[in-house]
Amino acid sequence: MNETKTVNRLKHNFEKLLKVGQALTAEKDYNKLLELILNEARKIANADGGTLYIVDGGKLYHKIMQNDTLNIFLGGGGEPIEFEPLEMAETHIAPYVAIHKRPVNIEDVYHTELFDFTGPKTFDRQVGYTTKSMLVVPLINREDDVIGVLQLINAMEAGELVAFDPGIEEIIMALSSQAGIALENMQYVEEIRTLFDSFVSVLVTAIDERTPYNANHSRNVAIFTERFAHAVNECKKGTYGELYFDEEHIRRLVMSAWLHDIGKVTVPESIMNKPTRLSEDIEFVMGRLKMLNALVDQRYYKALSTTLRSSGGEAEGEADKALWLEEKAFLKEAEIRILKANEPSTFMDDDMQMKITEIYEKRFREIDEQILNDREFEFLMIRKGTLTNGEREIMENHVVTTEKMLSKIKFPKDLMEVPFWAINHHELMDGTGYSRGLKGDEIPVEVRILTIIDIYDALTATDRPYKKGMPPEKAFFILGKMAEEGKLDSDLLSIFENSEAWHFKN
Ligand SMILES: [Fe+2]
Ligand SMILES: [Fe+2]
Repeated sequence: MNETKTVNRLKHNFEKLLKVGQALTAEKDYNKLLELILNEARKIANADGGTLYIVDGGKLYHKIMQNDTLNIFLGGGGEPIEFEPLEMAETHIAPYVAIHKRPVNIEDVYHTELFDFTGPKTFDRQVGYTTKSMLVVPLINREDDVIGVLQLINAMEAGELVAFDPGIEEIIMALSSQAGIALENMQYVEEIRTLFDSFVSVLVTAIDERTPYNANHSRNVAIFTERFAHAVNECKKGTYGELYFDEEHIRRLVMSAWLHDIGKVTVPESIMNKPTRLSEDIEFVMGRLKMLNALVDQRYYKALSTTLRSSGGEAEGEADKALWLEEKAFLKEAEIRILKANEPSTFMDDDMQMKITEIYEKRFREIDEQILNDREFEFLMIRKGTLTNGEREIMENHVVTTEKMLSKIKFPKDLMEVPFWAINHHELMDGTGYSRGLKGDEIPVEVRILTIIDIYDALTATDRPYKKGMPPEKAFFILGKMAEEGKLDSDLLSIFENSEAWHFKN
């Protein structure tokens, strides 16, 4: 080969390597990266076939197998490879290369005693192929650890099987070191992602578990959200027929589902777990009713003995008795009403509120005690649910806390949208949600999904303090009403309802 030809070839290979290097660093998908490494190495070396092994737990795992003549393309994102992993035995070429961290170039597999080639020879017999030349190089990372092995089979030149050119060996080595670093980078990224994901799920589960009533909420919302996103992908018609969430997008969405209620960490347990309007205070009220009953009795018997001792006090005695009976009846009635008003399922209409006000205002003659104190009265006057306006405000403030907490986290670029989606899960399409009162197009589709799921799980959860879990049909009826009122995205709701996404219960 003359000098110009050699220079040209070197230049050509150098340019090729540069391009491959760029492609390797640009690839974000692990399986695609593995395929790219083998593809490019085969192209440069003009190899008919090859295998890419990855080291895991001291063994070599077949990750990608390709052979043009046999039309075999296995592993990666395609058909899985069934072969057992290779033990690190020096007798076999790929493990040898991994152990010694150096390339091996075999001219003809059938004319060498250097390694045990029983495997390739058996394979040849079974499929009618001839394995001849082999170039096997290690994939090494920055710490000088072998992370894989690249094995190229049968160099071709003008349709003939030839040996791998020693010049190519160097190029393939250069490519393999680029590939080693690209793979290592990807593994780092994967490790950091796994670390972050597991940290988030551990933290959020701990927050959720502060209350036995809400222990699975964030997990459920994350699972439903992922299933919902897939349902949107499967739906090919209507408003969202064109919408497709790729894997990364779904990851971001699921992350925001995990984090959406993180601000509940500052909501007092007494508010988060409030099972009834009076909660534990009902015991005090019942105790006070008993005491008042006893005081009313005592006052009457005292009056009775005074009347008996004095002459002509019959009329007075009758009045005492009438008052006694009236107050006893009042106390009995009050107990029934308070118990009813205490239940979260009771809607406190004007009539009920009036009756509770009567009980609150009731004073007993000569007794310096009343049935309800100001605080208990306020609780029993709650129209719907178990929380007072003040308590509801504290509860709703969890989105503000979520925002504060998430603003302190430095999200990587690919997760940038996560906080915005997470903090807006109580916004409604008609602008009546909280805490910003966003409306219509101001609410991205990801948030609309979270909102539907958040309500769906709240309604169907079997572990809420103030009500039993609702069957899905009833939950969809309520969600449907909300969509009719313009609060939820009806197209998204019907995708969720008509999918299998909600057919899950942990
Ligand atoms: Fe929330
Ligand atoms: Fe929630």
